[in-house]
Amino acid sequence: MKNQESDFSKIVDAGVSRRRFLQGGATAMGMFLAANPVAQAVAASTQPQSKLLGFTKVATSTADTFVVPEGYVARPLISWGDPILKGAPAFNENGQQPASAQASQFGDNTDGMSFFPLSEDRALLAVNNEYTNYKLLFDHKGQAMTADDVKKAQAAHGVSVFEIKRTADGWDYVSDSDYNRRITAYTEMQLTGPAAGHDLMKTGADASGTKVLGTFNNCANGETPWGTYLTCEENFNGYFAAPGEGIELDQHQKRYGLKAKDRGYQWYKFDDRFDMTKEPNEPHRHGWVVEIDPMDPTSTPLKRTALGRIKHENAAVTVADNGHVVVYMGDDERGEHIYKFVSANKYQPGNTAANRNLLEDGTLYVARFDAAEGDVKGKGQWLELTYGKNGLDSSNGFNSQAEVLIYAREAATVVGATTMDRPEWVAVHPQTKTVCCTLTNNSERGVKPGQPVGGPNPRAENKYGQIVRWREAGGDNTATSFDWDLFLVAGNPTIHKDFYAGSANINDENMFNSPDGLGFDQAGRLWIMTDGKYSNIESYAGMGNNQVLVADPETGEVRRFATGPIASELTGLTFSPDQRTVFIGVQHPGEKDKPSHFPAGGNSKPRSTIMVVQRKDGGIIAA
Ligand code: FEO
Ligand code: CA
Ligand code: CA
Ligand code: CA
Repeated sequence: MKNQESDFSKIVDAGVSRRRFLQGGATAMGMFLAANPVAQAVAASTQPQSKLLGFTKVATSTADTFVVPEGYVARPLISWGDPILKGAPAFNENGQQPASAQASQFGDNTDGMSFFPLSEDRALLAVNNEYTNYKLLFDHKGQAMTADDVKKAQAAHGVSVFEIKRTADGWDYVSDSDYNRRITAYTEMQLTGPAAGHDLMKTGADASGTKVLGTFNNCANGETPWGTYLTCEENFNGYFAAPGEGIELDQHQKRYGLKAKDRGYQWYKFDDRFDMTKEPNEPHRHGWVVEIDPMDPTSTPLKRTALGRIKHENAAVTVADNGHVVVYMGDDERGEHIYKFVSANKYQPGNTAANRNLLEDGTLYVARFDAAEGDVKGKGQWLELTYGKNGLDSSNGFNSQAEVLIYAREAATVVGATTMDRPEWVAVHPQTKTVCCTLTNNSERGVKPGQPVGGPNPRAENKYGQIVRWREAGGDNTATSFDWDLFLVAGNPTIHKDFYAGSANINDENMFNSPDGLGFDQAGRLWIMTDGKYSNIESYAGMGNNQVLVADPETGEVRRFATGPIASELTGLTFSPDQRTVFIGVQHPGEKDKPSHFPAGGNSKPRSTIMVVQRKDGGIIAA
């Protein structure tokens, strides 16, 4: 790329400046539109149109279908319940199949996924299965749970790894490949890094504090240059309960959203690990990034405690110019934070054995975004989360690095991290190394203490979301300071004339709410997936079903690429290396009893499904 440094400063300078803000003398709200972040740059630079975006925009949709641009074709690859292990039964929608069946079938609620090539025409997909819906999973809809039902629900969670092969009309999955594997909420895993073996990690079943069963609520993902898959444990708290009268949870449990009352999964009834009155430390063993070798179906998944315990959304991996591996991570909750991990050791291309444990040891940081009042750009600092530094010592309740990592959220508060509007996916531009993060929405902004309006979170009761972008000092992803701005502010310009109309690169033809999934393709197009309100009325009028958009990071242009079926979220995105296939996940079509029968139609049960999207002429996707 030509002169990346000045390209970025040009974009940053085009955002709202403090001088400009003060000159206006108007209310902050009025000024937001007048001096919209990115808006001037976008208005000035979208003529001629983006050279990166070569597809015809898709209109909004409220139909029960998956819509792609003219000249493209989309086919289902695999749906919840399809058999992936040898001998697995076919999906049966009667809701009566036992746990053993689900444990050999594709899990529910497809989410983040990565493509691992085996050859030109064969590959493995590693896919998260985030959660399950008892109304669809069981004929009794969760009203008469048995031990086998809990096991079945646990088997619907986790990760699915399976082979896919190229065919004349796309890709198919291989149902009996030796590579195929299910990882569930009861697969044995190893805890590694500074928190492994700490007293807070020990349970009745594991006196060593190093062996843990299972991963669940795996949201998004990452992949490493040494060929492993990263799966991120998000809302793990929702599976635990503390049954009994008058149970009071402590400050740590509260900060991580643990509640005494069961939220409906009922796992505690048949599996003591999920009863906090019996196993108070079990929740400490979840909320991590897990590293999986997809090429070895017998390998033990490794929970990487050095990356901190939060409600992990995804793990965006890049190798800095100096060779250290950097992982960016969002903690998806109102008022939580953005983190980065820098490996202690350097990546050694081709030396798999040396690279294998790069995520075991390193430095964790959390972001503070600074801005002058009213500005939506500024500088930022990465604050180190290391025991003994920045107040992370016994004076604030921390006695070891293990405790800093297990209670990373509380450590972030001590060091003064910025409370964000629900950080979802992070993505790193493959050439410029500029980083973007979706801030999906935040009903508590400006309402709850500790969540002031300002900086990268400029709107109270933010219902639409925004994308924050930063460039590390000197273009070095291991740096401890950065410049930031807002790449995009979502909104509805057809009903709002203020802050809530969004930035000027949002218009009546590309508007959306709640950006969530995010990724760059090889050419640097920014792919945005939404997990928002699909009511299509009031604040959301004209937005339709959840959608996928593609943006040009240089010009700011945003164009809609796909729309999902009724009551689905589109999440999970990966490309074949030739960039001629994109895989897109359709999660929870028909949630909350909405009338979807995707993908089979008729009167069928709605099923989460991965779609294979290609151009009819075989060309590069979105080019
Ligand atoms: Fe699983 Fe924050 O989305
Ligand atoms: Ca998400
Ligand atoms: Ca979301
Ligand atoms: Ca979701």
